[in-house]
Amino acid sequence: MKKIAVLTSGGDSPGMNAAVTEVARFSALAGMPLIGIKRGYNGLIGKFSPEDSYQQLTLDTMLDIADLPGTYLRTARCEEFYHLEYQQKAVKFLRDLNVAGLVVIGGDGSYQGALALSKLGMPCIGIPGTIDNDLEYSETSLGFDTAVNVCVDAVRAIRATSRSHDRPAVVEVMGRNCGDIAISTAMSTGAEIVIVPEVKNWDLMFFVDRLNSLVRRGNTRATIVVAEGAYKTMKPYDFNAFLKDYTQVFEGEPMNVRRLAHVLRYKTGTEVRYNLIGYTQRGHEPTAQDAAFAFESAHMAVELLKQGIGNEVIGMRHGRVFHMPIEKALPTKPKFKKDIYRLINSL
Ligand code: ADP
Ligand code: F6P
Repeated sequence: MKKIAVLTSGGDSPGMNAAVTEVARFSALAGMPLIGIKRGYNGLIGKFSPEDSYQQLTLDTMLDIADLPGTYLRTARCEEFYHLEYQQKAVKFLRDLNVAGLVVIGGDGSYQGALALSKLGMPCIGIPGTIDNDLEYSETSLGFDTAVNVCVDAVRAIRATSRSHDRPAVVEVMGRNCGDIAISTAMSTGAEIVIVPEVKNWDLMFFVDRLNSLVRRGNTRATIVVAEGAYKTMKPYDFNAFLKDYTQVFEGEPMNVRRLAHVLRYKTGTEVRYNLIGYTQRGHEPTAQDAAFAFESAHMAVELLKQGIGNEVIGMRHGRVFHMPIEKALPTKPKFKKDIYRLINSL
């Protein structure tokens, strides 16, 4: 009987378990036994013992974990997988298990691995699983909506205390080199400033002036949302030289959320505080939107593999799932909603 396999790779994202569960349900319906590969591509190259590398996934195993955050199959990065020798080893491993196709749930790096396997003759289907939403070909990715909802809840809670004390807050969100989480969070919370990595050479003094003008207009509790990747694209500015008159400075300390809040604080004379939301963005149950996307994309992935079609990725366009060749989806660059960015920073 034709078997299929599924793995999760890269950073975990809410909805990965839901997607694996739906793959299990649809493959059961199609009469194709399912193997769960553990710890990303590590599970395919004989790095760990067989029980730490793969297991048969039955509905009994999966049904109780569908709603849980994290990934039951575990996830990991796998350095060896950049090399052909290990990719070939993986294909042999899957063939020895009688696996005819693999579902890879992960981001663009994981898609590169899936592309390599497809080229070696193992049909692979990619489902976008990353909170960053940095895959240009798809409107969303599993976990993005959940991460944004976590950030929105956090900003609202931070705003309550900011308002009570009449002090602005800087809030750092994740996203690697993509500002989508920051822009969606800022838009959904009415934040007054958003700073993202897509804007190259952004000027810290522009945001100092903007905060000054907001405070002068009576907004003493403004919210500044900054994407974690944005510090790398800031126009060079010797903030440590400026800060040394006010606070302890460690030579060579890079820009970070604390430094950013300090510069804004001492340049504007307002008591700006900083917050870092961190891994809570990845650790929540998937929202209805992410769970529904998991359902639809798992269905499409299993249908494609059932027909012997591989080398494709699933995405969302105009609110519905679609598929396209991996090569066309890669290489990818973050989609940047410039118009929204401008609106947020000018209201
Ligand atoms: P994400 O999938 O979230 O983008 P990474 O970029 O960390 O996460 O990639 C996850 C894993 O995918 C890597 O650890 C590696 O095993 C595999 N991978 C990434 N890039 C390639 C590549 N060019 N060729 C083969 N495998 C790759
Ligand atoms: O890709 C998802 C993500 O959470 C990014 O937003 C973040 O930059 C990165 O993973 C953090 O990776 P790690 O789990 O290795 O700290």
